[in-house]
Amino acid sequence: MRAEERTFVAIKPDGVQRGLIGDIVKRFETKGYKVTALKMLQVTDAQAKAHYAEHEGKPFYPRLIRYIQSGPIVAMVVEGYNAVAGVRHLMGSTDPDKAEVGTIRADFAQVMEYNVVHGSDSVESAEREIAIYFNEKEIFDDRKCMSELVTEYLDAD
Ligand code: RTP
Ligand code: MG
Repeated sequence: MRAEERTFVAIKPDGVQRGLIGDIVKRFETKGYKVTALKMLQVTDAQAKAHYAEHEGKPFYPRLIRYIQSGPIVAMVVEGYNAVAGVRHLMGSTDPDKAEVGTIRADFAQVMEYNVVHGSDSVESAEREIAIYFNEKEIFDDRKCMSELVTEYLDAD
């Protein structure tokens, strides 16, 4: 049974610097997912450590921490059916050379160290990562659709 899920997505500093914000957000919106929170921010030391705690001690960890803090990121909460796995499917494999053509990493990146996007790998990771970057008041998951807005507007006359 598929469930409505929310996941944490970040456009990493290389994606922001290269002017890919619009193209990347569009992939998620075109899929039909709802972007319910979005902001640009400089990742702090504490946020970087919390976000990548699972990788501490690995050879690439120092470079990963430097990379994620090398410029602003765009942090997002993305919602939809099966969104955790679905977002990772749209992003493609960690190594852009192994990612399927058509995925974000295959289309926009060349090397694993600069792979332009992050997406949570489980519902639990998503909740943990969302809490590192957002408070609940910054998440707008009760937006109205156009028909509701039109009906409200017409009824107000
Ligand atoms: P992400 O967390 O960013 O969505 O990526 P992922 O799940 O596909 O990959 P993960 O294993 O969680 O690795 C996190 C990020 O660390 C960098 N990395 N470099 N040089 C390396 O061997 C290596 N391995 C991983 C990548 O930026 C990867 O996205
Ligand atoms: Mg990961």
